[in-house]
Parts: sequence; structure tokens; C-alpha cells
Amino acid sequence: MNDLEQLSLSAQAEFDAAPTPAELENAKARYLGKSGRLTELLKALGALPVEQKKTRGAEINLAKSRIEAALQTRRDSLAAAELDAQLQAEALDVTLPGRQRGGGGLHPVSRTIERIEAIFGSMGFDVAEGPEIETDWMSFTALNNPENHPARSMQDTFYVDVKDAQGRWLNLRPHTSPMQVRYARAHAARHASRLAEGQPMPEVRVIAPGRAYRVDSDATHSPMFHQIEGLWLGANVSFKDLKVVFASLVREFFETDDFDVRFRPSFFPFTEPSAEIDIRFGSGPLAGRWLEVAGSGQVHPTVVRNFGLDPEAQIGFAFGIGADRFAMLRYGIDDLRLIFDGDLRFLAQFN
Ligand code: PHE
Repeated sequence: MNDLEQLSLSAQAEFDAAPTPAELENAKARYLGKSGRLTELLKALGALPVEQKKTRGAEINLAKSRIEAALQTRRDSLAAAELDAQLQAEALDVTLPGRQRGGGGLHPVSRTIERIEAIFGSMGFDVAEGPEIETDWMSFTALNNPENHPARSMQDTFYVDVKDAQGRWLNLRPHTSPMQVRYARAHAARHASRLAEGQPMPEVRVIAPGRAYRVDSDATHSPMFHQIEGLWLGANVSFKDLKVVFASLVREFFETDDFDVRFRPSFFPFTEPSAEIDIRFGSGPLAGRWLEVAGSGQVHPTVVRNFGLDPEAQIGFAFGIGADRFAMLRYGIDDLRLIFDGDLRFLAQFN
């Protein structure tokens, strides 16, 4: 083996041993660079006699092209390996399931309120919302519950450390009944000119869902709870209409005909007569038990007057539905606290 063949072989061996493109370029410089071993041989040609120069020159060129070919082969395989590694590192498995955000859902009480709104909507009732912090007049006095009257103690009210224009403490409304007053007064104001001319006014037909608050907390009472107030006022609206409306609600909401509705005499300052509304299912887990689900009554004349209306011309009924109770009955929830705990293991069942 002559020196050129040896040179080619050692170049090839060094190239093949270069683990990275940078080291391969260093190895190349050692053979083909400005003072590389092959370049030195070419430089040495000048010193040879003409005849030898020719053959030696041809041999050196042959060796050079072999070395260059070896270099290119190694360059290609390093580049291919690099591409492979990159593809491997960036591999994307499109068959893996995607990551998802947990999907939320409506709270059972919100679902209940939405269903009840839809049912009353189909019976021509408007839906109204109002403030949870109320004046003394709205929560009590307008509802025929005067200051110092013992009926006020029916509600253990939360008071807010701020007074209204009359110097009375604001309260967290202990029921949604102030919405009767707010809505009916706005209705009366809207139709003031008709009323002044003694013309009939469109009926008041509204429900008002929302939160109410009482100093009351045990397994069946929460200091914050949900009510749906209802008011239907017109020239000739009676208890019979209340019974029809309420029975329709129960039928639609619980999707059954197998139930009874009972009015049980009661007392509220803002209605006379007053009644608790009980329902009893004929089948299902609660069959045969009377369940109290709402307070109700014929709107008291004093309250109609406080609406800004004439109790001789306007008569009707009001009711306050326990929305949490409806949710528990509908979804078979046996502990009120589940409704307010916010435990996702419970709530996720409704998603
Ligand atoms: N506001 C009463 C309560 O909270 C319920 C009610 C509403 C009763 C309307 C009669 C009429 O207990």
C-alpha cells in the first residue's frame, strides 16, 4: 500500500469516527485544509522532476477525490441521523386523546329556576329581578308589616350597617316579596294615564326568582336560600286561578299528573286569606307525604294600595315558592346542605 492509499484510508477512518458535523469539518481540515496533509503533498509536487510530477499529480488527485467522496458520504449520513433524531424528538402522536378543560354545568337550583321561568312564561308571566339589599319599607311596611308589629319577628332578618333615606337600616331581603311591590308599582306608573282616566289596566302577571336571607341555619334551613315570588293581579283573579296555575306548574315541572295540591290556612301580613301550598305525589319515593312547597294568599288591600293601585279594582294572589325545595324534590336530593356546599363531586352529576 503506498502512502496515498494509506492517507485515503486514514482520512476515511477519521471521517467515519467523527460523531458530529463540526468534528467532521475539523477532520476535513486536517486533510484538505490549507495546511492539510493532502494539501502539503500537492505543494511538494513543485519540487519533483517533470515526468514524476505528472504521475504523482494524477495519483494525488485520485486520492483527493476519494477523500472528498468519503467526506461527502459521512456528511450525508450525519445529516440523515440529525434529521432522524429531530423527527423522533418532535414526534406528534395524533392518535392520543386531546386534553380537555372540565366542562361545567348549571347548578340544580339554576336549572330549577330556569324550568320554572319557562313554565310560567308559557302562562303569560313576565320574569323580574330586583335588589337583594332592600329598604325597610319594601321588605316590610309596604307588605302590611308595620314597624313594631309582632309579625315582623316571623323573619329573623339580617340588617346591613347602612341606613336608607328614612333613617332605617337596610336589610338583606328576608323574602322575594318586595319584588311584588317594585314590579306592581312600576306597572302602575307605566299605566298611570289609563288609570287616571278610569280605563282598565293590563293585568300584572310576574314571577321574580332570587336569593333571600334569614338568620336561620340547620339541616333544613340555610341563611341564604332561593325563592320565586309570583303575583297575578287583575279585575277578577281568584284563588281558583291560583290553584290552576299552581297545579299546572307542578304537572309541568315534575312531569306527572299523579299528585294532589292542598291549600292549608296560614298567616302572612301581606295576604288575606293566606295559605301554605302542599303537594302530595301518588307515586315515587315521596308518595303519600304532604310536602310544603310555597306560601300564598290573596293580596291584602293595604298592599294593593301600596302598589299605587285601587283595591276595589284590582284583586289577585301572590305566592312564594321555595326554589331549593323544588330542586330537591325534582332531583331527589335529600340534604339541603348539598345544594350550598359547592362540592363538585355532587354538582358534576348535573352537568
Ligand atoms: N314571603 C312569604 C315567605 O317568605 C311567602 C309568600 C309570598 C306568602 C307571597 C304569600 C304570598 O314565607
